[in-house]
Amino acid sequence: HALQSLHTFALPSQCLQLVTVSHWQQLTEIDFSKPFCLLGEGSNTVFVEDFVGTVIKIALKGVVIKESDTAWFVTAAAGENWHQLILQLLEKGIAGLENLALIPGTVGAAPVQNIGAYGVELAKFVEYVEGFDINTQQRVKLTREQCEFGYRDSIFKHALKGGFVITQVGLKITKQWQPELSYGPLQNLKHTNLTAQQVCQAVIDIRQSKLPDPCVLANAGSFFKNPVVSHERASKLKQQFADIPTYYVNDAEQKLAAGWLIEQAGLKGHQTGGIAVYHKQALVLVNQGNGSADDLVTMIKYIQQRVWQKFAVKLEHEVRLLGHDSEVHIQGAVC
Ligand code: EPU
Repeated sequence: HALQSLHTFALPSQCLQLVTVSHWQQLTEIDFSKPFCLLGEGSNTVFVEDFVGTVIKIALKGVVIKESDTAWFVTAAAGENWHQLILQLLEKGIAGLENLALIPGTVGAAPVQNIGAYGVELAKFVEYVEGFDINTQQRVKLTREQCEFGYRDSIFKHALKGGFVITQVGLKITKQWQPELSYGPLQNLKHTNLTAQQVCQAVIDIRQSKLPDPCVLANAGSFFKNPVVSHERASKLKQQFADIPTYYVNDAEQKLAAGWLIEQAGLKGHQTGGIAVYHKQALVLVNQGNGSADDLVTMIKYIQQRVWQKFAVKLEHEVRLLGHDSEVHIQGAVC
């Protein structure tokens, strides 16, 4: 089965079998002892080889909304589109998720990498994540704490990797709405009578001005994670590169802007075969239509190497890369 239309980076790859799951019971019929790969809308996954197993597309649908005096409780099935969910909630007057507008992908994929943008992370709203435990064949509910959320990270990338299929996500959204406007361009919105719709529109405008629409130009969003370094390391880099943007993470660490590092390494707009570093946001790689997996792997290694040479910082790709039977991690030669 062709995979090109099933992932937004759109490399021309194939898989042996494709199963579309629209009811969770279908999961009990799948042979998980053979190579498999879970897929939502494929906006954070790139198939860099033909996959010799089953691609399981999660297409579970449904949204249920309940409320208490102080909060909304939203249960959304894993196959729902994330952005459409935000719009649907805003229409009903349920505000809070607007900073996460236009992030591509499904509800079920959102907790895996704890999606985040403009000062907000999904983790803040997760009450529980429900899924199918592949080993016990049972449905299991995890609390937010059990999800072990971190920056673009969760238990679903570690202990539960390959053993758990997220089927629905429970969100708790407090009724007392407070806009989060700390992120640069959103600060201009600080005025009275601001509505969540206005914040949502501002986020949409910022994203559309910097990030390519995957329907027009194939891409998988930010390709690399923003590297997290110690305060000491960050202040040394600041001495050397006065303009380097840094963001507070916790008492021990700071985050660097990978897009800035890549741009400063002279790679904005750089091209390898059909793959390019996007000219408006260096953290995004685009497939110009004729890109191959070889071009992409060469590009990833080249970017890692150039950023290492200039800043001695290691870049890790944030996008999940699928090899012939499992996930692969590319770490270009750094010296
Ligand atoms: N920058 C450059 N050149 C570039 C890109 C960025 O100098 O080509 C600088 C910017 O000027 C800014 C800093 O780097 O000072 C940060 O850039 P930006 O605000 O665009 O955000 P980012 O760190 O590149 C992260 C997320 C995005 C998210 C934005 C907004 C990651 C890996 N990426 O990008 O998430 O939308 O912040 O909050 O954390 C995604 O994960 O797919 C994604 C798009």
